[in-house]
Amino acid sequence: MKNGSPRLDLLIRNARIVDGTGAPSFTGSVGVRGDRIVAIEPSDVEAEATATLDVDGRVLSPGFIDVHSHDDFAVVFEPEMGFKVEQGVTSEIVGNCGIGAAPHECARGFSNAIFPGHQLPPWNGFAGYLDYLDYLDENPPSLNVGTLAGHGVLRQAAMENPRGAPSAGELSRLRDSLRCALEEGAVGYSSGLIYDPSRWATTEELVALAREMSRTGGLYATHMRDESRLLLDSVAEAIRVGSEGGVPVQISHHKASGRASWGLVHDSLRLIEEARAQGGDVTADQYPYTAGSTILSAVLGWLTGESDEGLRMEPCDVVIASNPDDPSLEGLSIADIARQWEIAPADVARRIVEQGQLRVWVVLHTMCEDDVQTVLRHPTTMIGSDGIQTPAGKPHPRLYGTFPRVLGRYARDLAILSLEEAVRRMTSFPAEKFGLRDRGTIRVGAHADLVVFDPETIADTATWTDPRRAPEGIRHVFVNETSVVRDGAHTGARPGRSLRGPVR
Ligand code: ZN
Ligand code: CU
Repeated sequence: MKNGSPRLDLLIRNARIVDGTGAPSFTGSVGVRGDRIVAIEPSDVEAEATATLDVDGRVLSPGFIDVHSHDDFAVVFEPEMGFKVEQGVTSEIVGNCGIGAAPHECARGFSNAIFPGHQLPPWNGFAGYLDYLDYLDENPPSLNVGTLAGHGVLRQAAMENPRGAPSAGELSRLRDSLRCALEEGAVGYSSGLIYDPSRWATTEELVALAREMSRTGGLYATHMRDESRLLLDSVAEAIRVGSEGGVPVQISHHKASGRASWGLVHDSLRLIEEARAQGGDVTADQYPYTAGSTILSAVLGWLTGESDEGLRMEPCDVVIASNPDDPSLEGLSIADIARQWEIAPADVARRIVEQGQLRVWVVLHTMCEDDVQTVLRHPTTMIGSDGIQTPAGKPHPRLYGTFPRVLGRYARDLAILSLEEAVRRMTSFPAEKFGLRDRGTIRVGAHADLVVFDPETIADTATWTDPRRAPEGIRHVFVNETSVVRDGAHTGARPGRSLRGPVR
């Protein structure tokens, strides 16, 4: 093997190499030394190495990148992140949907809601991201972590009344804190336009912040204002923030929610294509399921009929995922509980929100399979789980199954994507979009974030009723050269690093 003189740390041989670029796979060997890939041979070779792994013709690909995670706090409190690395994920982006881990005083409330009784370690600073990322380097999780700056948290920190419009002074504070967050290592900023207080922003505010970001680099990721009947208006708004602000756009969890909106993804994809044809860098991410998940309080108005936008959600489609105050409700729909309690579904929802506030998570069965496949087929879609770990309850199974589900169900079984293309959507494509240097491809010089899986058996096993199940078919996972999954089991190693954004 042409690997220079010193001996390899690791030789992975007899592999079907899927390099992440979308190029056809080939059989070969990969040599690793000092956390980088140092040799790739299109043949099975013998070489001097401290450790040799014969993978018996299984696929060797770059580690998967989850661009849409909500595990800002899980990486602190459950740093082994088994539910994620056991899927083959080696890097993830947190800080999505306007929510974020910094600054500390604003993030603490949300952290308490997700991990009750866990004390968020202190991090300081004006924006707080530098301390957060430094904390992760000093107390590393098992995978690499990058973060967006959450627009909702920026608002909380910069505004006296974040549920309204910023004054001129507050808008300039918002700009300053975003610039600071980017200088501290955030890879962009995220909005959550259905959540308080991000939803109070006008398009002009989002553009003003994007303009600020355009001077330093970083992308705008958005949980849009409406993913139902007003989906197209929402996509148009996201595109406008990108074009007027001069920044790349990432549409989070692209979907059409609610029966009346099914099929609209054909038009939203067309809007993305048109924006790209005009030079805009607009892409999206998706989780491969026909149900979503969020906190119950965010959809309360859709159940009670009191939402400003006139959106409706059926009580039978809304299932309690996690409710620490009364776990016996987990797995039941609002309609089920209404029958049990013999009161109206809207009152059920009100009562549970009153008791549980931000702690109640729901699964929303509101999408159709055709749309999921249409979005997944489209070349502008990458993969993001949108998963969030909670210490108890029945989380959405995407937390455990997203990546194997794309490779098993959608690539192999339904042939929606080739294996090579499916891997590209979870490796080089997201690495390029989120500016993760030297990750997401198997090439000489890249970081040794690698996964070995069996393309014949890879499958998600997590279900709605039994979601905490590891997938099948993931054999080995390496993060920065260190083995975190060996023969399908977590090794306990925590070699993750912070991934810092464009301003360095
Ligand atoms: Zn979201
Ligand atoms: Cu999200």
